[in-house]
Amino acid sequence: MQPNRRQWLQQIGLGTLALGLSSLESFAAPANNEGKSRSLAPSDVIRLSSNENPYGPSPMARSAMIENMMKSNRYNWDITSELMKAIADKNNLPGENILVTAGSTEILNLLAVYYSMQKGNFVIADPSFTNWTNIAVQQGLTKIAVPLDENKRNDLDAMQSKITGETRFVYICNPNNPTATIVDATKLRDFIREAAKKTMVVVDEAYLEFTEEPSVCDMVKDIKNLIVIRTFSKIYGMAGARVGYAMAHPDTIDALLKLKVWPNGDISVMSRVGAMAALKDKDFFNDCNIKNNAARAYTVSQLQSKGLHCIPSYTNFIYFSLKEYEHDFFDVLKINKIQGTGIYEQEGKWTRITVGTMEEMQRFISVI
Ligand SMILES: Cc1ncc(COP(=O)(O)O)c(C=O)c1O
Repeated sequence: MQPNRRQWLQQIGLGTLALGLSSLESFAAPANNEGKSRSLAPSDVIRLSSNENPYGPSPMARSAMIENMMKSNRYNWDITSELMKAIADKNNLPGENILVTAGSTEILNLLAVYYSMQKGNFVIADPSFTNWTNIAVQQGLTKIAVPLDENKRNDLDAMQSKITGETRFVYICNPNNPTATIVDATKLRDFIREAAKKTMVVVDEAYLEFTEEPSVCDMVKDIKNLIVIRTFSKIYGMAGARVGYAMAHPDTIDALLKLKVWPNGDISVMSRVGAMAALKDKDFFNDCNIKNNAARAYTVSQLQSKGLHCIPSYTNFIYFSLKEYEHDFFDVLKINKIQGTGIYEQEGKWTRITVGTMEEMQRFISVI
């Protein structure tokens, strides 16, 4: 296929200039919640939009990636097996329950495609992490969006009540993106047991490592209709390395793998060794949590002292209301070269900001 003009310009590196875009914008960047393309950040831009970890990858991951770079000439399937085993051991599960992919988005994508092959609906909180569900909607599944409860948490009772024989899956993002809230651990387990009698339960634990909360992954041993998703993009600081994984019944994993041309073949050798090393780097993991907690506490207290209502955060991002903000928040960010997100809920003008380093958050607070 011939590349079109836009693709060709991108290939030769002239895309942004030739199309009149600022040098900060990129076609490759994912759309944000307002549907606009996010900007690519040159080094003088503070990136508080994608909940990345500003400190990663961990020192051990970096060394492993560099040391193993020369293995990139081979497929090295054994390294994939080692990574699956390391993930299985970490989560006290057998290897047959593990699926590894290039970022957890790949798993969500596979789920959306898989369930779109049937008719019906899916149940999801609103707002939550929804970009990936667009495929399912485009393919004909009906989205049943369930408002969060008054504390901006997944409303498990309301979600349970929406599940019918037509429901193909229910998605629980815990902690929830963008609101940074968690649900009660016992209540979640009860919810899963009940909901899984009728439909597939998808629990996205992308941010669980920022909390003290237990995972529900042990439940995949007994509950066939449960898939638990994790990523190396957040606490492990490897968003660009693209490694994610799912824990589920082997039949679910087989069904998803059938949708891929090359099962287990999409993570680079360097990312695989990096992820394995990252799992062992406990110091880095703990250090990230300590730094995140300090920068988050500072930011929340400063936002509150400016009269902005914040939802208590359990993650590396903060959900707060711009209702009482007197200026154009997004203009202020733009002028000061800070990448934020957009408005998630018009009522209350709720937005989300990623917790960066303490210096970045001090800069953010000083300009808003
Ligand atoms: C809740 C949630 N799940 C999944 C992802 C996808 O992460 P990745 O594809 O980098 O693993 C994100 C990314 O921000 C997220 O917020």
